[in-house]
Amino acid sequence: MVALRSVIFWVLAVVTSTQAANILGLYSSYSPSHLIIHMSAAKALAEAGHNVTVVSMMEPKVTHKDIHVIVVPLEKEKLLILENQMVTMAGKKNSMISTFHRILNDMDVMIDSQADILSDPRFLRIFDTKFDLMILGAFLNDFQLGVAAQLKVPVIVDWMTAPNFITDGFTGNPSELSYVPNVATFTTHPMSFLKRAENLAKHLLMAYMSTLLDSKLTGIYKKFYGAENGQPTLNELRKNISMVFVGSHLVSEGPIRPLVPAIVETGGIQVKDKPDPLPKDIDEFLSKSTQGAVFLSLGSNIKSSTVNPEIVQTIFKVLSGLKLNVIWKWEDLENTPGNASNILYKTWLPQDDILAHRNTKLFITHAGKGGITESQYHGVPMVALPIFADQPGNAEIMKNSGYGVALNLLTITEESLSKAIKEVLENEKYSQAVGKFSALYRDRPLTAKQSVVFWTEYVLRHHGAPHLQSPAVHMSFIERNNLDIYTLLITIVVLFVFLTRLVAKFVWSKILGKANISTAKKKQ
Ligand SMILES: *[C@@H]1O[C@H](CO)[C@@H](O)[C@H](O)[C@H]1NC(C)=O
Ligand SMILES: *[C@@H]1O[C@H](CO)[C@@H](O)[C@H](O)[C@H]1NC(C)=O
Ligand SMILES: *[C@@H]1O[C@H](CO)[C@@H](O)[C@H](O)[C@H]1NC(C)=O
Repeated sequence: MVALRSVIFWVLAVVTSTQAANILGLYSSYSPSHLIIHMSAAKALAEAGHNVTVVSMMEPKVTHKDIHVIVVPLEKEKLLILENQMVTMAGKKNSMISTFHRILNDMDVMIDSQADILSDPRFLRIFDTKFDLMILGAFLNDFQLGVAAQLKVPVIVDWMTAPNFITDGFTGNPSELSYVPNVATFTTHPMSFLKRAENLAKHLLMAYMSTLLDSKLTGIYKKFYGAENGQPTLNELRKNISMVFVGSHLVSEGPIRPLVPAIVETGGIQVKDKPDPLPKDIDEFLSKSTQGAVFLSLGSNIKSSTVNPEIVQTIFKVLSGLKLNVIWKWEDLENTPGNASNILYKTWLPQDDILAHRNTKLFITHAGKGGITESQYHGVPMVALPIFADQPGNAEIMKNSGYGVALNLLTITEESLSKAIKEVLENEKYSQAVGKFSALYRDRPLTAKQSVVFWTEYVLRHHGAPHLQSPAVHMSFIERNNLDIYTLLITIVVLFVFLTRLVAKFVWSKILGKANISTAKKKQ
């Protein structure tokens, strides 16, 4: 019996196993936080025995000995422009309009550099290898789908956050605007009339911006791939995407919404299943913090030293006055904000492992998606100090979920910051709420890493898995929403009402006419 079972298992294993595949990860957006997420998926695949080759613009922090990394660094001037943008952004409050204005104008550099890669000799080396699949780290670069078309391989898109209208478009997933908030909408549920109107307006604005960007992306695609007859258009390639990995877990994060099978959630992929041992000094520092420790990181996009020095001093004064120990991520150890016996400055920190430590009681964060995810995963309450882009939104959602408090980094004072820290440390409701989330977040049929491996191999086994594709991908907006049918029905109803009225009027005038005649007769 046992023998038979193991034979069956063995046969099943052979039938369902996928041979080691050659996988290309094209992760060219210049963002360390995006790269961490993409590389975590690549690492899961390498650990599962696949031969993964990665192209990126910077040396990745997450790696694996078997991943072949091709770095095509950003040109010096472009690097300066991007970093200067970060500096100016850190100095002023950004409205949604100005953020998008920037994406449209300044982010040209981001788009152009991702186009430049396509003709770089270091990149072109990939065509020496026979690949089986490409994973595209998506951010203002879908013209790179042309690479997969040249390689004649299926594509999986890797997206950093919850599905949005772009990933919905790739997969034919319904974008439920009446209850799924836009990244820039903050709301409770169900959404009121005004909130829904606001959400719809923001969606339309984003869709409009995206249309404007689209002509640029399509232009680049045409320049590199679409010039000859018979080449697929960029829109055709967008409809040939096998699957989209999204960095969410909606069951715990909410709001629940429909997801087509071609959208697979891998939220938390960057969080290690088991923490690594901490560097010795950090481990000792945390272990002796029996009162608890605070961890402060303003993220990788913005160097701490580019934040206004007055704000840094405010933070320093508050933190140096705490009874708890503090680990502070700070790039320039020669010029720290100040010396205090309870503060340890480090240029680089294993964020995830620190949050996993039992003594870590509070995370002060710039509210990047990655940091919030890790903190939620480990059940650590937060004080968020967002600056720009998706950070205010992430912070607001975190606050609304009850996992902590959010302040605007640019307007904090000693009083407001110290009050916020005290509140989150002393009021147990925050750690309880985030603890409950942590339990839900980890309770899944497949971990994020297992999902990446299973579904990637699924796409490989089924040669792009075209059967997973929703028919909606091939329908226009009008067809998908039956607007043509509604228009016809309304036209029929309107015509019917119009004709009925016409007939009624005619008949009525006849009757009236007769009646007039008969009364006239009577009077005579
Ligand atoms: C793995 O990928 C590299 C390209 O990065 C390629 O040179 C190598 O031949 C591949 N190995 C196998 C076993 O296919
Ligand atoms: C902090 O201490 C270091 C040496 O321990 C010293 O070099 C530095 O100047 C001090 N910084 C301040 C702001 O006091
Ligand atoms: C469309 O995707 C399939 C795999 O799903 C791939 O084999 C094919 O080459 C792709 N077509 C184009 C035009 O890229």
